[in-house]
Amino acid sequence: MTERVKILLVAGARPNFVKIAPLMRALAARSNHFATKLVHTGQHYDASMSESFFEELGIPQPDFRLEVGSYTHAQQTARIMMAFEAVCCAEKPQLVVVVGDVNSTVACSLVAKKLQIDVAHVEAGLRSGDREMPEEINRIVTDSISDWFFVTEPSGLDNLKREGHKVERIHFVGNVMIDNLLYQQRRLESRPPNEQAETLRAQLGQRYGVVTLHRPSNVDDEATIRSILSGIGKVSERVPLVFAVHPRTSAMLERCGIAVPPRVYLSPPLPYMAFLSLWSRSTLVITDSGGLQEETTALGIPCITVRENTERPITLTEGTNVMVGRDPARIVEEAFRVLDGHGKIGRIPALWDGHAAERIVEVLEHASLTSTRSAHSPRLTHFYTIPGNSSIGAGSE
Ligand code: UD1
Repeated sequence: MTERVKILLVAGARPNFVKIAPLMRALAARSNHFATKLVHTGQHYDASMSESFFEELGIPQPDFRLEVGSYTHAQQTARIMMAFEAVCCAEKPQLVVVVGDVNSTVACSLVAKKLQIDVAHVEAGLRSGDREMPEEINRIVTDSISDWFFVTEPSGLDNLKREGHKVERIHFVGNVMIDNLLYQQRRLESRPPNEQAETLRAQLGQRYGVVTLHRPSNVDDEATIRSILSGIGKVSERVPLVFAVHPRTSAMLERCGIAVPPRVYLSPPLPYMAFLSLWSRSTLVITDSGGLQEETTALGIPCITVRENTERPITLTEGTNVMVGRDPARIVEEAFRVLDGHGKIGRIPALWDGHAAERIVEVLEHASLTSTRSAHSPRLTHFYTIPGNSSIGAGSE
């Protein structure tokens, strides 16, 4: 029997968990070919941001928990790198798979490449063009060193080609987050109503909207968050809104003593199924999340994005997404358009069909067969050795 290809799959923050669920399933289905281990960096650690996702999405318990927690960007990234390097040295994988654009993504891809391990980036090539966004830096750096690129939409292909990557390494496969969404939606429909969502719906009534906000550019400045909430307050005069509050945002609301308008119902971060049950039956979504822009497009729910730019332009050109910036008047204008029955009608982007993870695994199967790398190659031994007293690292030649 040929030796199986050793993969480390990395997840760190909430938006990663929804992307690795279908990848874990697709890799498990090819366990004769791949030996996959899961690494949870612990970037997100609250039960509501992490454990509940593992349970509901059917993700196996991680093989490694790095438990890094929240710090400044540099400290968080450095802690992930140090802990992940030790895992790579012990495991000697042939491939590290990273998803999305969070600090865990960039930290683990850097570690892997410095150990000469191939990196596959799932959701590669997205660009907002806004280098003030920490995620944009993470995307650019991760793509600049990755070996395999799995792309969700044509803009990703264009960006990667423009940046000079080899076309044979770039694969337009569709969207693993939509794989997860369609899979979980089928499960939701076959179950009794979600209790948590029903409790909220009892307060809200049949017609309601859903709000999420957590981007530093929206929530870290008091005047900005107050201004956005003033627009949201006006919308809530016409339709009740449920606002699932990210820890970063709740900390800010508390610190500044900001009260939300009366028909905006606050909720802690919701488990995936309760949240899906809520937003998938809502009249509109107001958000600054990357993921929700895509998920609303996939289910045809009107989405108003409170950002100046998006790295997911297909949600604007083909989907239900409308970008309004941070102007409260624009939030109200677009929301009223939806409430008046004139919201944008979208269509489903190509390959957002629930099978992206399978396509990725198919490519990797071929890629690893043709790979000349081996975890046992003598030329790598040096990189896996942590010198006695010196700091962790590959050292110089
Ligand atoms: C991160 C990602 C962002 C993603 C978002 C989704 C980066 C650069 N950003 O942003 O792309 O859209 O996750 O949630 O990686 N906190 C908790 N509990 C937790 C996690 C965080 O209380 O489980 C608090 C911490 O106090 C922290 C703050 O939330 O200071 C922000 O967390 P952090 O992981 O730094 O970034 P996010 O804003 O969550």
